[in-house]
This record gives sequence, C-alpha cells and structure tokens, in this order.
Amino acid sequence: MPSVEYTLDPARIDAVAAHAFLVDCYWSRGIPLSTVRRAIDHSICVAALLHGRQIAFARLVTDRATFAYLADVYVLPDHRGQGISKRMLQTLFDHPDVQGLRRLLLVTRDAHRLYQQFGFQSLASPAGFMEKHNPHIYQSANIGGG
Ligand SMILES: CC(C)(COP(=O)(O)OP(=O)(O)OC[C@H]1O[C@@H](n2cnc3c(N)ncnc32)[C@H](O)[C@@H]1OP(=O)(O)O)[C@@H](O)C(=O)NCCC(=O)NCCS
Repeated sequence: MPSVEYTLDPARIDAVAAHAFLVDCYWSRGIPLSTVRRAIDHSICVAALLHGRQIAFARLVTDRATFAYLADVYVLPDHRGQGISKRMLQTLFDHPDVQGLRRLLLVTRDAHRLYQQFGFQSLASPAGFMEKHNPHIYQSANIGGG
C-alpha cells in the first residue's frame, strides 16, 4: 500500500485542490478560489499527499502565540476511515509555532469524537462566547472576488 505523506510546507499546499473540495461542502459552499488562496496564505496548513496529490487538508488560523482556530478539515471520500485525518491533525498540532497556546477553538457538525481525541471538549461556558456569523457570505455578491 503506497504511503501517505504529511506536509506543513506552504510550497506544497495545493489551494486549487482545497478549493475543489471546499466550494461544495456544507460550511463553505460557493467560496471563491481567491478567498481560499488568501486563507491559506495566512494560516498554518497541513496536507496529506498520495503520489504527490493532495487527498486531505486542514488549517489553523493563529497568532502563533496564544490562540488558534482549526478550520477546513477534510479527507477526500475514497481515503476516509484509514486514520488520515488523525495523522494529519497530529502533524498540524505538532507545529512548533502552536505549542503553549492558551485556547484552540473549532466548530463541527458531527465529528466531535475525532477532535475529542486531541483534547477538544464542548464549550464549558457557552454563554460567554459570542459570534458574528454570516453563513451565506459566499453566495452574496462577489465577496472576495473570483
Ligand atoms: C471528518 C473526516 C475529516 C475524518 O477523516 P478520516 O481520515 O476518515 O478519519 P480517521 O480515519 O482519521 O478517523 C476519525 C476518527 O474520528 C471518528 N469520527 C467522529 N466523528 C466523525 C465524523 N463525522 N466523520 C468521520 N470520523 C468521525 C471516527 O470514528 C474515527 O474514530 P477512531 O479513532 O475511533 O477510529 C472525514 O470524514 C471528512 O473529510 N468528512 C467530510 C468533511 C468534514 O465533515 N470535515 C470535518 C469538519 S469539522
């Protein structure tokens, strides 16, 4: 069985491949390629590569000192159920710039058990959290360009 490679090298992250998945998924439907590129440029990203092709991706939005937000975690359907997301997330969380953070956040619809394995728990004090959420932003007129 060919081995999957995990990389944090920005030069090896494939934004077009990430966009191809994200543009059709429930949390970022319609996201422009230019927005994905900008997000990747300003995040710590990890990819899983098989024969050099990106089959999985995730990113941390972070100040690299105190806080990080985990986003856009996916594994392509043909490669799920083999532990790829867990190895990929471990690679990301091992990045030297995200050690000793005070808080990490994420939002998930149904993958709580995956993230629990990395120490994430449901909000202890949800009343203290606030959000400004615009779930239809990518369907609005030309935000972020083409
Ligand atoms: C969620 C996802 C990234 C998991 O990737 P994967 O490589 O198949 O997962 P792994 O094989 O590494 O195992 C994930 C573990 O989390 C568990 N899990 C919990 N919720 C899960 C979920 N919704 N989907 C997949 N696994 C889930 C699995 O049972 C497995 O548990 P185990 O360690 O006891 O075996 C993948 O199914 C995916 O891309 N889904 C579509 C996009 C998505 O929903 N992303 C997450 C957004 S928060």
